[in-house]
Amino acid sequence: MKVLGIETSCDETAAAVVSADAGILSNLVFSQLEEHRPYGGVVPEIAARSHLDHLEGLIRGALDQAKVGFAELDAIAATAGPGLIGGVFVGVMTAKAMAAARHLPFIAVNHLEGHALTVRLSGEAAFPYLLLLVSGGHCQLAAVEGVGVYRHLGGTIDDAAGECFDKTAKLLNLGYPGGPAVEAAARGGNDRRFALPRPMIGRESLDFSFSGLKTAVRHRVVALAQPPAAQDVCDMAASFQGAVADVLADRCARGLARFRGDYGQAGPLVVAGGVAANTYLRTRLDKVARAAGTEMIAPPPKLCTDNAAMIAWAGLERLRLGLTDSLDFAPRPRWPLQEVRGPVGAATRRQNIEA
Ligand code: KG4
Ligand code: ZN
Repeated sequence: MKVLGIETSCDETAAAVVSADAGILSNLVFSQLEEHRPYGGVVPEIAARSHLDHLEGLIRGALDQAKVGFAELDAIAATAGPGLIGGVFVGVMTAKAMAAARHLPFIAVNHLEGHALTVRLSGEAAFPYLLLLVSGGHCQLAAVEGVGVYRHLGGTIDDAAGECFDKTAKLLNLGYPGGPAVEAAARGGNDRRFALPRPMIGRESLDFSFSGLKTAVRHRVVALAQPPAAQDVCDMAASFQGAVADVLADRCARGLARFRGDYGQAGPLVVAGGVAANTYLRTRLDKVARAAGTEMIAPPPKLCTDNAAMIAWAGLERLRLGLTDSLDFAPRPRWPLQEVRGPVGAATRRQNIEA
């Protein structure tokens, strides 16, 4: 079984082919970073046009590299939301056109589901697992019971973790995207130099909040000599990253305890999304999982940030269950993970209990 996947929901144009038994056959990502850099963030209109310019070439490249023709494909999957809608349209329309022309099933993949299932591509994570999804636009804890069966446990009430990394990087003149730059600067910094708040720690709910931390970073940075000295930048990056790690560690420890109560097993803890590429956070969350008697599983860093292999893989998992979509499926700018369609009759354990 082989699926072509397409990803165009933000500023990466990507195409990939994955196979059920051989894994990733090709995985091409074109980053639009240089096109957005002058604006310090992603400009939706520029992103949509750039997807249009690059997608066709990437699809050809992905098929060539995989040595697969349309005849050997079993389905075409594309991110159909959530994301910047102009870009999502480009990917979905392209996928639908190819599916119609080649008489192949079309699969509308939720981008978050792509992140949620990636660990099953790179290793063997069995259901159920506790998912921490941390990316530029999302931050949530969910119980993953199966393909299309997601139970929301907590989410951010303001900013996403990645967004916070990006804003901190901007304040420190570290450029865009901020995550990798903050991580690199933090390596040379003292994480105790600046005392920063750790919102939500100790709370019973599994929600997140990062706006107070973001504001505290801003206050501390403007109080520094301008431009800040190199050591100040490193110390702030390390102090900020340490605060985020403490918050994520606390939420995950609580999440694992809740998960054990609900499912009778401690984990595993799966960490996904762009922020999961951060080595320091991975190490911290690994310790949290071990302390809870389970393991942390995260995709290799290259598969944490946006790519099409994760979309092709989610498409393949859905295809195996017969979860294909009709060509009138409308792209969705907003599409929470827990609203993804599962197999007929599928309900989360909570819904089963309440029914
Ligand atoms: O999953 P992703 O590629 O796109 C979204 O779906 O949002 O995540 C991108 C986010 C950005 O905010 C980026 O700064 C962050 O992931 N990120 C990182 C690292 N690499 C990427 N954050 C912290 N440390 C990293 N090494
Ligand atoms: Zn993403």
